[in-house]
Amino acid sequence: MNNFDYYNPTQVLFGKGQIAALSKVIPRQAKVLMLYGGGSIKKNGVYDQVKTALSDISLLEFGGIEANPTYETLMQAVALVKAEKVDFLLAVGGGSVIDGTKFVAAAAVFDEGQDPWQILEKWGGNIQAALPFGCVLTLSATGSETNAAAVITRAETKAKRSFMNRLVFPKFAILDPTTSFSLPLRQVGNGVVDTFVHVVEQYLTLPTQAKVQERLAEGVLLTLLEEGPRALSEPDDYDVRANLMWAASCALNGQIGAGMVQDWATHMIGHELTALYGLDHAQTLAVVLPSMLRVRAKQKREMLLQYASRVWQLESGDEDERIELAITKTEVFFENMGVKTHLGDYGLNEQHMGAVLQALEEHKMTALGETRDVTLAISRQILEMAL
Ligand code: NZQ
Ligand code: ZN
Repeated sequence: MNNFDYYNPTQVLFGKGQIAALSKVIPRQAKVLMLYGGGSIKKNGVYDQVKTALSDISLLEFGGIEANPTYETLMQAVALVKAEKVDFLLAVGGGSVIDGTKFVAAAAVFDEGQDPWQILEKWGGNIQAALPFGCVLTLSATGSETNAAAVITRAETKAKRSFMNRLVFPKFAILDPTTSFSLPLRQVGNGVVDTFVHVVEQYLTLPTQAKVQERLAEGVLLTLLEEGPRALSEPDDYDVRANLMWAASCALNGQIGAGMVQDWATHMIGHELTALYGLDHAQTLAVVLPSMLRVRAKQKREMLLQYASRVWQLESGDEDERIELAITKTEVFFENMGVKTHLGDYGLNEQHMGAVLQALEEHKMTALGETRDVTLAISRQILEMAL
């Protein structure tokens, strides 16, 4: 097991009715800005629950944060925070709203005179302070509710970049699985695929003898295989939603990845596909991951064999056959969750690949993966295989 520095200060309030606890976890004297997305929280009653819980607290609102949140929109929220001297932020929504709130929290107190986009250019390493914030999660997928990462898009330049800094851990995360009942099936499938790939990025790499982390990873994957299809066929089942919501947090709250070698090449290529062609985040992962695993099966061999055995119970056939079957089963699982696995399914062909490779180069994504051997030539091979 590799050395690690595990830190996660986010308080989690999990379960039915927990939105009412907002009044206990938000400081009484705070001037709060609630940030939300395109309006789903007004249709499913979450907005009303938040307003009721915070009826005696000074509360402003900023709506309209889009999926794949943009710098351009978020800078309007930053201006509001500064003008109104807001001192606590509350994100109510999915990963996009929570990520966007992390950016606002850091950008609102970023060095005067410097463009906060610099936060993305420097991967968050230049954040010196951030406003405190909490979140109410309505879509389980990204794990953003209990981690210190965010992904922000600059619409003007079609750049989708990420940052990470311990100063942007949420102070608290309210996870009420009933908020996810109103999700369209497409987002349910997306959430399961995103969670699955988060685990794979940390687990299907090099062997590290980190047995607890490996079994946590396998436990989350097996839970997704069991509960993912049920979320589609039994959309009103509370425990199914509860398991998926906790799975998504556990997948990316730092525990699985501690002491493991991490990959993240699938995500980095996927971000370019979203920025350029508008695919949902999970759609990009479903497209890239199977080819990533095939092209890099040699580097990942030992863990792929463990995955084939422990997650898919594949014990017969030679090693190469087991690896290929495990990858195929992964692909079929994504398809069964309603997330297509080929670029052609999204109207993309070889003519679109040049721009993806150019963007990867511009963003210095030329040595990706756990062994840093995903060069532009390998990325091209992966994308061509995914057509
Ligand atoms: O905007 P509203 O109206 O709220 O609608 C949203 C949005 O259209 C809707 N939605 C959310 N909760 C709902 C709901 N609709 C009905 N009922 C509900 N309960 O779902 C749509 C998608 O929401 P979004 O927040 O964009 O989805 P997700 O949570 O998948 O977040 C995706 C973003 O997170 C980033 C992605 O790149 C992408 O930008 N990621 C963040 C990570 C992190 N911070 O650690 C890691 C991930 O790998 C990922 O990159
Ligand atoms: Zn993801």
